[in-house]
Amino acid sequence: DPQPYSAKLDVPEALTFDDVLLRPKESRVEPDEADMRTKVSKNVELQVPVLSAAMDTVTESGMAIGMARHGGLGVMHRNMDVDRMATEVERVKRADELIIRDVVTASPDQTVQDVDEMMDHAGVSGAPVVDDDQKVLGIISGTDIRPYLEVGERDEVREAMTDEVVTASEDVTARDALELMYDHKIERVPIVDDGNRLVGLVTMQGILQRREYDNAARAEDGSLRCGVAVGPFEQERAEVADEAGADIIFIDCAHAHNLDVVDSAREIKSSVDADVVVGNIGTSEAAEDLVDFADGLKVGIGPGSICTTRVVSGAGMPQITAVSEVADVASQHDVPVIADGGIRYSGDAIKAIAAGADAVMLGSYFAGTDEAPGRVITMNGKKYKQYRGMGSVGAMKSGGGERYLKDVEDDEEDEYVPEGVEAATPYKGSLQSELHQLVGGMKSGMGYVGANTIPEFKERSEFVRVSSAGHQESHPHDVMITDEAPNYSPDES
Ligand code: XMP
Repeated sequence: DPQPYSAKLDVPEALTFDDVLLRPKESRVEPDEADMRTKVSKNVELQVPVLSAAMDTVTESGMAIGMARHGGLGVMHRNMDVDRMATEVERVKRADELIIRDVVTASPDQTVQDVDEMMDHAGVSGAPVVDDDQKVLGIISGTDIRPYLEVGERDEVREAMTDEVVTASEDVTARDALELMYDHKIERVPIVDDGNRLVGLVTMQGILQRREYDNAARAEDGSLRCGVAVGPFEQERAEVADEAGADIIFIDCAHAHNLDVVDSAREIKSSVDADVVVGNIGTSEAAEDLVDFADGLKVGIGPGSICTTRVVSGAGMPQITAVSEVADVASQHDVPVIADGGIRYSGDAIKAIAAGADAVMLGSYFAGTDEAPGRVITMNGKKYKQYRGMGSVGAMKSGGGERYLKDVEDDEEDEYVPEGVEAATPYKGSLQSELHQLVGGMKSGMGYVGANTIPEFKERSEFVRVSSAGHQESHPHDVMITDEAPNYSPDES
């Protein structure tokens, strides 16, 4: 017999961030010492369990470089053509390379004034001098040039340069290069091939900068890690991203439990070396259908700050329940889970991890930082940056429709059925300070629960249910806030 419709109303409850709090527990954990290491996919470990969203107002190479330097991971959006995507990946991969490959060079017959201007323009303080064959003849720096500039004569570089050049070969290590620099009191070492032709440059500044980021997410070759979003049916983009060196390919779909998407994702997985994370999903059934090949699962059907999916389609899953359902299945197969969307505060992020996620992905939290693409705009004396859903009309027009399984190429604007909005978000300054607040708050949560590591926290944490009165009590109340806190904005409560 068919089920009576009224049986459908016998429904399970699904919870989200504001419905729960972490139960405080006995603890000897100093939050600052909590170890945040986690896996975001089977083969990629991070020091910081945080990813920036694959959205065209959040993550391009600038954000990806910033995220990786501070221990997290940037996932670059796919509203750009495949060639540009490859260039963006290469930018990340080359950002912290020991050997700089795009070297600014001088020629021996240029004037010192010319070279001075050129170096100034390129933002470098010295340049190898090479002949037409790229053979290294000398090296010139501000110190060499200054006396000539003061006299004001139009001397040639060959007069001013230092012609005894200390060079090294491509297999040089950072330690060898530093030793050469200390021994010879120099700040840059040209890297040459067997024929003394220039192939790169190692600088003291570059080496010191690498040391500064001791938490950075690096691949085995020392390059910064990055992720790339590809459409569920974009086999070619996935292969090009893989070839360009992306560490993780994210199959980027609003409903990855569509079985055509599952088939295509499986095919993409078989044709790339990089890890493949599949999303988004929000149920245990979806997880069951993906765990046999996915290197990671991403969870979030409609929790995002700019999402209208749930309102437009009537479908979705409150995020805490969605994460816990997926994590139940994924953890049995050692597949990491990423909670994507809806995180407003550090407390939400650590609740997502308590619900079973290994890492969190955020869009709006990072969209206002300097590292996000786009300009700062001023409205009524306040600074903002643009932030828009990838299912908004604007983003779909720039090529984002496939995420929503929509063919919008030839549609007229009024035929779009968007699942996101275009918005502005307060300008926040540097990514580093935003990340510091986010991770600091998450560590605090680990302190209250008494867990030193993420796996320990996932096991030890327990939730209590919060009533609406309890929720009100959680936020500042009965006062007028006079000074803004760096990690709390009353608008978002
Ligand atoms: P937050 O809350 O961090 O969410 O700003 C970022 C996540 O939201 C998803 N996303 C969308 N979801 N319509 C949606 O329903 C959209 O237009 C849209 N754009 C992004 C995405 O998973 C992102 O990481």
